[in-house]
Amino acid sequence: MATTQQIIERHDQYMTHNFSRYPIAIAEASGCVLTDGDGKQYLDLFAGFGAGILGHCHPDLVTAGVKQMNKVWHVGNLLHTEPQTLLAEQISTKGFGGKSFFCHSGADANEGAIKLARLYGKQHRGKSTGEFGRFKIISATQSFHGRTFATMGATGNVTVRQGFEPLPPGFVNVAFNDIAAIEAELDETAIAIIVEPIQGEGGINVPDEGYLAKLRKICDERDMLLILDEVWTGCGRTGKYFAHQHWDVKPDVMTLGKAVGCGLPVGVVCAGERVWDLFDNTKMGRVTHATTLGGNCVSMAVAARMFEVIERDELLPRATRAGEAIKARLRKFAEKHPVVKDVRGKGLFIGVELDPAAEGAWFTSGNEIVSQCLERGLLINCTHNTVLRLAPPLVITDEEMDRGLEVMEKALSGK
Ligand SMILES: Cc1ncc(COP(=O)(O)O)c(C=O)c1O
Repeated sequence: MATTQQIIERHDQYMTHNFSRYPIAIAEASGCVLTDGDGKQYLDLFAGFGAGILGHCHPDLVTAGVKQMNKVWHVGNLLHTEPQTLLAEQISTKGFGGKSFFCHSGADANEGAIKLARLYGKQHRGKSTGEFGRFKIISATQSFHGRTFATMGATGNVTVRQGFEPLPPGFVNVAFNDIAAIEAELDETAIAIIVEPIQGEGGINVPDEGYLAKLRKICDERDMLLILDEVWTGCGRTGKYFAHQHWDVKPDVMTLGKAVGCGLPVGVVCAGERVWDLFDNTKMGRVTHATTLGGNCVSMAVAARMFEVIERDELLPRATRAGEAIKARLRKFAEKHPVVKDVRGKGLFIGVELDPAAEGAWFTSGNEIVSQCLERGLLINCTHNTVLRLAPPLVITDEEMDRGLEVMEKALSGK
């Protein structure tokens, strides 16, 4: 294998530089441990933005993937294949019901959800007299729904869309967790609300208890759609299969990405009863949404197996217990170290908000903590400069977690 330096040089010459990458090249990964080309190991508490929900190269997933690779990879969606149906069944029965459409990423899934909302708004025009019926989609500030053209509009972070205007019209962003702000946008054009049950890129923001239920009520009263973006929170990350189950609120459309593919590129639009016919080519008289490689057999076989492993190994209660223990430990640390302002999240989706102005803070940004941790063999993440994020694989052991937290606490206290 090439050296790290050679890999970086080739990257610099032949790849666009979309990401600020650390000068580390990972050669192998297993469980919660990454190993670079020089043999240095990193404990992975971020799992590739949460996608490695069962850790790296989980033996059951490897077996499922390899077995499928030796059978059939891809035949196109004019034919049936069993793995798609198995994954769709898992998502429907573990979730709110619904029928799945498979694509490749979180943004891709949200594009599909937005298309469903637009179609629904043409059929359910309400008081709208305009040519396009109802089309406005309300989302939250600090939300993240993707970087494709439509999802940039739904994404609340304005820097994401800078320079790409004009964007498709019909999106407004209002404060997260603020029902009055939503209500202010409920005119005759409003057709859907899209929200993350817990904001991920925005800083692990958990909504107030009644927030999602109130959104559900608004959507029911106004014949609008509630789209829950579970790209970060889905597939056991928060200690339930899907985060909306914490609040017992059912969406009309749920989108998945990241963890559902376990590291392979999978996106899912799970459409509820009110909307699934809008993707039915027979009922609509034409194809309203499609993609070539969505639902390829290998990704599907791996993803379907992931749900079975979560169930078999009781990883949901495990994620809940581990998450509570991590939060308790970090809150105790915060009592003596005011640099930690808040510890929040559910299951193994945890945010640690820092206060760089607090007494004892040696850093100006959480990214300095991330760098220190990396030097000491620990991978965590920071968003918005001040929120450290932990999203380890659900299979992490107590010993690994303790080891990781010790490194992080040392880095936070400048030791
Ligand atoms: C909640 C949420 N939705 C959608 C996306 C977009 O997913 P992808 O990067 O797979 O396109 C992300 C990515 O971080 C996300 O956090």
